[in-house]
This record gives sequence, structure tokens and C-alpha cells, in this order.
Amino acid sequence: MIFKHFTFNHIKLIETESTNSYLHNLNVKTKQVNGTVVSAINQTLGKGQNQNIWITEKGKNLTFSIITYPNIDVNYAFYLNIISSLAVQKALTDLKIESKIKWPNDILVNKKKICGILVENQIKGTKVIQSIIGIGLNVNQTQFDSLLNATSIHKEDVKIEIEDILNQIYRYLDFYFNLLKESNFKILLNQYYSHLFWYNQIGDFNDEHSNFKALLLGISEIGLLKLRLLNQENKVYDIKDVSFNY
Ligand code: BTN
Repeated sequence: MIFKHFTFNHIKLIETESTNSYLHNLNVKTKQVNGTVVSAINQTLGKGQNQNIWITEKGKNLTFSIITYPNIDVNYAFYLNIISSLAVQKALTDLKIESKIKWPNDILVNKKKICGILVENQIKGTKVIQSIIGIGLNVNQTQFDSLLNATSIHKEDVKIEIEDILNQIYRYLDFYFNLLKESNFKILLNQYYSHLFWYNQIGDFNDEHSNFKALLLGISEIGLLKLRLLNQENKVYDIKDVSFNY
């Protein structure tokens, strides 16, 4: 398959701490082409958002990272999160698995997490010059810690090879990245909203002080979560300052 932007030059590892870190370090030593992918059968110290760790059963799931040099304005940095979540969401829809994107970029199936995404950007001046997008998608794992509230493609009764779902994600990453490069921000944002968990609904949230209900209005210009509190005040939240009770 010929892609418009990415090479999807694939480096397959048996084990590494984190594919995001591996790709980052490799790229410092030897500059990698746009769209180089690193995947690992086992991650010993997978990184999640907010300094969390990403735990995944060895050999069962898809854990990979891709590097790109988007050269887009920093004001649009969040669109890298948007295109990655849309790519996974769409690949799941093709498998007839209905999913939602929980801000900023978790993918949920029936309120259970099936995929986590970690986007690590490098900014120079006003541009995002490099982005490492790390995707952890549960494919064949069937047992999860009950506290995690997670699911996998297999648990949703779909059988697929890890390689095949990876290829579908490649297709959609290239497609949505193309929309981004062509500055189709409105289209991308609308797509994101159409799959966004609790969009335009009253949800139940937590901040550092308390539990509260609010209307999820969408995201701010720079990708923060925009809520309307019950006293009609609008407020934006960064990822470390709010959590969803669902
Ligand atoms: C999250 O939900 O907190 C984000 C999880 C991201 C996990 C993926 S697995 C592949 C890549 N390498 C990492 O160390 N993290 C990401």
C-alpha cells in the first residue's frame, strides 16, 4: 500500500522499556524518516499520560510508536491527538466495534478502555517539529485487573491478527494526517466531537476539590477540556486537573 505521508518503516522489538522512549533515543542517535514505527512484543516500563504507567500483557496487544515531523503551528498541536484517536476509532469501527473517544485521547468501548494514546511533541519556536505518537491497543488480552475497567478487541468478540489492525491504523493515520496537513481543522474537530464521550451531555467529573456535574462543551483552542458548570460558568481544564467518573 502506498501512503501519502508516512513510510511506516517498521522496527520490531521483542522487548523494550517503552516504544516511545526507544524511538526517541534512536532518533537522537540517527535521524529516522517520517513515519518510522517501533513496536514491541513486551514493554517493561510503558508510559501513560500524566506520568502513569501503561501495563499490558506480554505478546497479547499492540504497543507501538510512530515518529513524524508535522511542522504545524503549536496552536494546532492538539490535532495530533485528534488524528491519532480518530485513526484508532475508525479502525475499530471497521471491525464493527463501536467506540468513543474520551478526552483527550482514550478510546472506550461501552465505557471500558480499549486503547490509550500518548503523544509527545517537540516544539521549536512556534512549530511542532517532532511528534512521537504512542498507541497501546488491547487486542488479545482477556484478563484485566478489575480496577482497570478495560476491554480488548478479543473481549468484544472480534478475532484479528495484530498485524492486520496495525495496517488499518496506518491507513487512517495517513488519511487523517493528510487532512491536518491540508489545514482541515474544522472537519477534524467535527469528527472528533462526533465520537467524543459525553459531548454536549452532562457528565460527572472530579477536580482537586470535589466531585461535580457539568456540561461537556468541547475543547478549547489548545485542546483543554471545556466544561459549563451548573452555575453557568465556563471553565477549561488541563488533563492533570480533572477526571471523569463514568
Ligand atoms: C494512556 O492511556 O495513559 C496512554 C497509554 C499509551 C501507551 C502506549 S503503548 C506504546 C507507547 N509506548 C509507551 O511507553 N506508551 C505508549
